[in-house]
Amino acid sequence: KMNTYISTLMSKMTVEEKIGQLNLVTGGEATTGSAVSSDVEGKIQRGQVGGIFSMTTPQRIRKAQEIAVTKSRLKIPLIFGQDVIHGYKTTFPIPLGLAATWDLPLIQKTARIAATEASADGLNWTFSPMVDISRDPRWGRISEGSGEDTYLSSEIAKAMVKGYQGDDLTKYNTIMACVKHFALYGAAESGRDYNTTDMSLHRMYNEYLPPYKAAIDAGAGSVMTSFNDINGVPATANKWLMTDLLRKQWGFNGFVVTDYTAVSELIDHGLGDLQQVSALSLKAGVEMDMVSEGFLNTLGKSLKEGKVTEEQINNACKLVLEAKYKLGLFDDPYRYCNDARAKKEILTPANLQAAREVAGQSFVLLKNQNNLLPLKKSGTIALVGPLANTRSNMPGTWSVNAELNNTPSLLEGLKTVVGNNVKILHSLGSNLLEDPAYQERATMFGREIPRDNRSEEVIIQEAVANAMKADVVVAALGESSEMSGESSSRTDLEIPDVQQRLLAALLKTGKPVVLVLFTGRPLALKWESENVPAILNVWFGGTQAAAATGDVLFGNVNPSGKLTATFPQNVGQVPIYYSHKNTGRPLEEGKWFSKFRSNYLDVTNEPLYPFGYGLSYTTFSYGDIKLSAPSFKAGESIRATVTVTNNGKYEGKEVVQLYTRDMVGSITRPVKELKSFQKISLKPGESREVTFTISAEDLKFYNAELQYVAEPGDFKLFIGTNSRDLKSADFKLL
Ligand code: IFM
Repeated sequence: KMNTYISTLMSKMTVEEKIGQLNLVTGGEATTGSAVSSDVEGKIQRGQVGGIFSMTTPQRIRKAQEIAVTKSRLKIPLIFGQDVIHGYKTTFPIPLGLAATWDLPLIQKTARIAATEASADGLNWTFSPMVDISRDPRWGRISEGSGEDTYLSSEIAKAMVKGYQGDDLTKYNTIMACVKHFALYGAAESGRDYNTTDMSLHRMYNEYLPPYKAAIDAGAGSVMTSFNDINGVPATANKWLMTDLLRKQWGFNGFVVTDYTAVSELIDHGLGDLQQVSALSLKAGVEMDMVSEGFLNTLGKSLKEGKVTEEQINNACKLVLEAKYKLGLFDDPYRYCNDARAKKEILTPANLQAAREVAGQSFVLLKNQNNLLPLKKSGTIALVGPLANTRSNMPGTWSVNAELNNTPSLLEGLKTVVGNNVKILHSLGSNLLEDPAYQERATMFGREIPRDNRSEEVIIQEAVANAMKADVVVAALGESSEMSGESSSRTDLEIPDVQQRLLAALLKTGKPVVLVLFTGRPLALKWESENVPAILNVWFGGTQAAAATGDVLFGNVNPSGKLTATFPQNVGQVPIYYSHKNTGRPLEEGKWFSKFRSNYLDVTNEPLYPFGYGLSYTTFSYGDIKLSAPSFKAGESIRATVTVTNNGKYEGKEVVQLYTRDMVGSITRPVKELKSFQKISLKPGESREVTFTISAEDLKFYNAELQYVAEPGDFKLFIGTNSRDLKSADFKLL
C-alpha cells in the first residue's frame, strides 16, 4: 500500500519538488551553528521544504503544517524533529548517567515518556539515540552517549529505539528515532569535537559499529551522519559508510539526514564547492540536508550537468516520503497537533516521579569512608559550592526543552526531602571557574551559574564559617552542565582549581565532607579520592535531580549506579578503557613498573575507578562460579552460576556483570569483554543464585577478513561487581 501511494504521489512531482523534500530547515528554537534558515514560510509554500526541526508547540507546528498541506502544490505534510535526547520537558539524567542505571526497562521508559511529551507538543521525530562509543573523556559529547562499552551501548540503543517508536509508529504518541552520529564520532582525535577519525576496520566492526547496527535492527527509522571524517572521507560524503555498509550490508531502509550544515562543511573538509559536495553527499547515500541548503540550491543544476542522476534524487525523495507515510502524516498531518494533550501529558506528576526515580538510580557512589553516607535527617548541614543553588545547571547539557521553573536547585530539593528536621546553611564558597571568560564559555545556552566578584579568600571564608557551625559539609562541586556536551572539549579533567582550593579549606575544618560531584564526563579525581571521605557522582540528573540527590544522601534510596566509562587517574592515561588489548609486553599483575614493559614511569596502569564500578550503602559478596560444563560446541551453551549475598544492613540493588576473555585468537582479543549483566535487588542477609547462559554466539567477533566467527579454544569467564573485582572460571569452546 505504501509503495503504491508513494509512487503515485511521486509521479505527480516535479524534480524541484522532489529536491524540496530533501531540505530540512530550522525553526530556530535551538540551533548549534551560525547558519539559520530564511524565508521558511515561502519555501514551504513553494514545496522546497521536507521537514522542520527546532520548532515546538501544537500551535506553531500546526501553522507551518497548514502552509504545507493547504498552500503548497502537492500538499505534502512536513516532518517535525527536535533533539529530545534525555527527556523532553521532564528531563532525565544525561545519557551517560542514564547508562549508569544499567536498567534497560527503566531506560526504555524514559524514552517512552520523552516520546509522549514530545509528540504531545507537536513533534514526530527525535535526533536520538546517540550511540557513539567514546573512550575519551576530553570529548564533551561523551555525556550524550552510553560510555565506552560496545555490548552495553548496543542494549541501550535498542531500548531507546523501542521506547521512542513503540510497536506502531503511526500512533499519536510515538516518534521516529534517529540514530546518531554515523559514524565513529566518539573516536575523534584528541577528544576535540568535529575532529578526524582514523580507525582499522576490525576495530570499527568489533567495537564501534555494533551500537548503530543494534539501533537499526531495532527498527530506527532514520540515521544522522557525523561531522568527522573516517579514514580520509567525511561521513557525510562517505559512500562506503552510507551505502555499502548501512544499506547493503545492514539492510537499512529508512532515511539518512545530515548533521547541522554537515553538507556545506564538506567545503571546509576540502572536498569542493557547494555544488560538488552536495552531489557527493547525495551520491554517498544521504537523503536529507540539514540547514546547508546545498541540496535545494545545487542538485537541479547537477542533474542538468549529469553530475547526479534523477534516479538518485527519486530514491532519496522516496525514502523521505516513506518516513512520513510510516508516521501516518499522509492520513492526518495534524496527528501530533493536539492542544489538549500538550496541556495534559507534559510534566505530569507520574513523569516527575519517574524522573526522580531514574535520577536516583543513575548516581554513582565513588567513595564512602566509614559509612559517612547516608546522612542523618537531623542536625546542621553546610551546603557549599557554586553548583549548590542553581536551577540552571540541573537538567544537563542539550536539554533544550527543559523548564527551569520546574527544576529545583540542589538547595531547594534537599529542603523538600528533609523539611525542617535538618538546618541547611548555604554559601557559594567559590566561583565555578576562576577565569570569567572560561566561565562564560562554560555557561552558554542560558545555563548561568552565579558569580561573586569579591576576593576568593572572602568567599571561601564564608563557607568555612558555615562549615564550622555544621555537623557535616555537603560540597556541590564539579562541572557546569555546559562544560560537557557539544563543542565542550577539555584538556584538563580535574575539578577546576578554584573549587579544589575551596574543598581543601573545607577539609581543613576537620568536619566530615561529602562531595556531591556534578559532571558530564569521567573526571580525574585522584586528589579528591585520597582526601575526601565521601564522593557521590550525580552527573546532571534532570528535572528531579535535586530531590533524588536528597533521597540518596539521606538514605531513602540506596545508590546502585555503576560507571559505564572509566575514570582515569590523570588525563595522560586517556584513552583508558577496560577492554584493552594485552600487548606483547603486559605489566605483571600488582606491579607499578617494570623496565621494558607496557606502563608509565609516573602513574600506574590502573584507572582511578574502573568500568562497572559503583558502591552501595550495603556490601555484596560473590561466591565462586559454578559452570554447568567445562566445555561446549557451537550450537550448544553452558550456564555459569554465582551466589550473590547482601551482607549489610540496607536493601540494595546490584549489577552482576559477566565478562569473557578469548585466550587465543586469529587476531588480538581484548583482556575482557562485557557479555551480559543482571540487575538484582537483595534484602539485608539475602542470597540469590544468578545464572547466565553463554553460547558460541556470545563469543563471536569479526576476524581479519571481517567474518563474524567464534573461534574454538580456551576462554576465561569472569563474574563480579565491576570490571576489576571479579571471580573467574575457565571453559573451552570445542
Ligand atoms: O542533533 C544535533 C546533533 O547531535 C549535533 N548538531 C546539531 C543537531 C541538531 O540540533
